[in-house]
Amino acid sequence: MSTPHNQAQKGEIAKTVLMPGDPLRAKFLAEHYLEDVHQFNAVRNMFGYTGYYHGKQVSIMGSGMGQPSIGIYSHELFTQYDVEAIIRIGSCGSLQKDVHLRDIIIVQGSCTDSNFAHQFELPGTYSAISSYDLLEKAVEQAKLKNATYHVGNVIASDIFYHADQDSGKKWASMGCLGVEMESYALFATAAYLGKKALTLLTVSDSLVTQEETTAKEREQTFTTMMEIALEIA
Ligand code: ADE
Repeated sequence: MSTPHNQAQKGEIAKTVLMPGDPLRAKFLAEHYLEDVHQFNAVRNMFGYTGYYHGKQVSIMGSGMGQPSIGIYSHELFTQYDVEAIIRIGSCGSLQKDVHLRDIIIVQGSCTDSNFAHQFELPGTYSAISSYDLLEKAVEQAKLKNATYHVGNVIASDIFYHADQDSGKKWASMGCLGVEMESYALFATAAYLGKKALTLLTVSDSLVTQEETTAKEREQTFTTMMEIALEIA
């Protein structure tokens, strides 16, 4: 049994999957944090691994960039591999002056400029939210780790290079904390399939100050976010 995008056999993937965007980050995290690691996917180099964290089975797999990509992988994980929860661990741009580089955003809700939810033929606009259970546990862990974190809404955009230079400011005026490109599709897919999802983000750049983190800084802050995700997995 496999899918067009995942060569894993049933039983090779844990009930909870952590998903960074970058498959090479999935490889690095699996090799550094998990014991007894086993690689289950290499189709399109979208690497996926299963191993143990403090005796608990966890999988880590890349999601790729954008809502179509995470939409495909999350759908297959939920429907073909009996995955119960997906925690996206990614980066974002800050839209608010008090959300600083390296801060963590625990995503409560996700807005979008995507048509992803049109497939559900709802008679209105779907509000995509994280699992409250996972959100609450992430907040507890962030407090324990003394992390600088924010909880709130983000904008999951289909566009990285916006023709409308003011789009970020417009979402910021509605209280969105950051911009990324995957959370809405992940939350909507989980809701449709009756599963759980959460998105944790570290701020890698600021649309307010135009600052950016270095690769080294990104790696260090990613560590705190990763540890929060592993604790709640
Ligand atoms: N991910 C990290 N920074 C981002 C940005 N500025 N826009 C969209 N996605 C991002």
